[in-house]
Amino acid sequence: MVTVPRRLFFALWPDDASRRALAAEAERLAPQCGGYPLPAENMHITLAFLGGVDASRLEALVDLTRAWPALDGEWTLDRLGHFPQPRIVWAGSRTPNAELTTLNAELWRALGRHGFTSPQRDFTPHVSLVRQADRAAPESRLPAPLRWRFDHLALVESKLDDDGSRYRTLADNRSQG
Ligand code: 2AM
Repeated sequence: MVTVPRRLFFALWPDDASRRALAAEAERLAPQCGGYPLPAENMHITLAFLGGVDASRLEALVDLTRAWPALDGEWTLDRLGHFPQPRIVWAGSRTPNAELTTLNAELWRALGRHGFTSPQRDFTPHVSLVRQADRAAPESRLPAPLRWRFDHLALVESKLDDDGSRYRTLADNRSQG
């Protein structure tokens, strides 16, 4: 049977207040960068992007997610960056975050046991703020650093519709009880 691949990724989601603050920053920056701001509900960090995955592999990914050890980490966003391709202005940090680097590596190790291959490029933890940006933000620092705690890992599906990407969490590692 032919199935349509599901576009999946692993992510961390900031709490509501942090996502609202990031969305406000996106609104402020979009006119300066020439793109469109992403909404609060889309604000996240991708830890591992899997791309199109056959539905038959989903159950194993859900199990992996639910069995993942509890998280209790912290990340301070204090920097603005720009990826000229794919034209994104993002928020990240000026200093590497060891917890995120470790989490990214451990996740890819676990995914490797399920036949997924990690990308060759370096991991740059970031939250995309503005898409189709023509230029970087005029400043390289967030006006007010934003500190947030991450406490769960999520397996997320991305679907494209007329309004852009819609994300749906398929599983996370918060206790089920
Ligand atoms: P982005 O925000 O930097 O575009 C859903 O598309 C999520 O997966 C987004 O966080 C997106 O990151 C990320 N993503 C999309 N394509 C990717 C790729 N080829 N490599 C890594 N991450 C990707």
